[in-house]
Amino acid sequence: MKKWYLALLTLVLVFSLAACSSGESGGSGDADGVQELTIKISHVVAENTPKHQGALSMKEYIEKESDGKIKVQVYPNSQLFGDKDEYQNLVANNVQFIIPDMSKLVGNDPGFNIPAMPFLFKDDEAANAFWDGEKGQEIFKRLEKDGVLGLSMWPNGAKHITNEKKAIKTPDDLKGLKIRTQGGQLLEAIYGDLGAGSTSIPFGELYTALQQGTVDGQENTYSNIESKKFDEVQKYMTIMGHTRVDYALLTNTKFWDGLNDETRKIIEKGVEEGTKVARDSAMDLNDDALKTLKDRGQVEIHELSESEIDAFKKKLEPVYKEWAEKIGADIIKDAESKSE
Ligand code: LMR
Repeated sequence: MKKWYLALLTLVLVFSLAACSSGESGGSGDADGVQELTIKISHVVAENTPKHQGALSMKEYIEKESDGKIKVQVYPNSQLFGDKDEYQNLVANNVQFIIPDMSKLVGNDPGFNIPAMPFLFKDDEAANAFWDGEKGQEIFKRLEKDGVLGLSMWPNGAKHITNEKKAIKTPDDLKGLKIRTQGGQLLEAIYGDLGAGSTSIPFGELYTALQQGTVDGQENTYSNIESKKFDEVQKYMTIMGHTRVDYALLTNTKFWDGLNDETRKIIEKGVEEGTKVARDSAMDLNDDALKTLKDRGQVEIHELSESEIDAFKKKLEPVYKEWAEKIGADIIKDAESKSE
């Protein structure tokens, strides 16, 4: 009788211990309380940019709401990982959030070429609306095959060309120049059609590449140009807005699934906060950066007139059509509808 009782007690103990440990390692929301964690956010740009401001507000929200149980470390300026290795380190869970320019993701899915489609979105709101919508979310979902979750889109804004050689006012002015791009075949095709050569260089190496004349020019937002002081090593800037920098806020699926409900809720709200700050600050930071570039007076600025822009649109029509098919007619139709 006593032996039988002891055996039963042992069985109960073994089962309850097994249930308990599977709850913890499964991390599916069974464990109570906010988990103690250290989260790393890595990105490649400077501090006075919408991406860094968004990341800082994520940190502030998450640390405050978790009573310091979750610590968030933000690494700007490619300090932790750069363009070449941030995605694979996210997949390996060496970093929990990265926020790459979508042009760096075109090797994973052609849909991420959307910000490089010439003159597609009229402003940040149109881009936000596309990525928040069904088709944009569909493109994010395609990263799940890598164990990566796309949580949100953060805009930076329209890109403009800087270069060291001449004022660019017509498509022909680009002939013979060598331009650095963020990467991908669409940007390469755009410069190919304009008679320029192009090469992709990580953002962290761009200042030196411009300084040493490895490339003649590059395209970027005002806030990236100003915060990295590219005007120190470039003579001309053309206000063009032909392509965009838009970011994908990405996390590791295993990390995300390992959070219990209470912890995930805090981090989710932190992502919302970061998204709000990044979206609200992008345009203002670009406006301020343009003003600073004008005040510093180191680059000669030419703003294209409407008819000058039309000449670029016409020249880039074939490449737009070709890539609309590659990306998918339904996706492009949806994206175009956001600027109507
Ligand atoms: C660039 O590489 O020029 C930009 O995409 C950097 C960034 O993340 O804004």
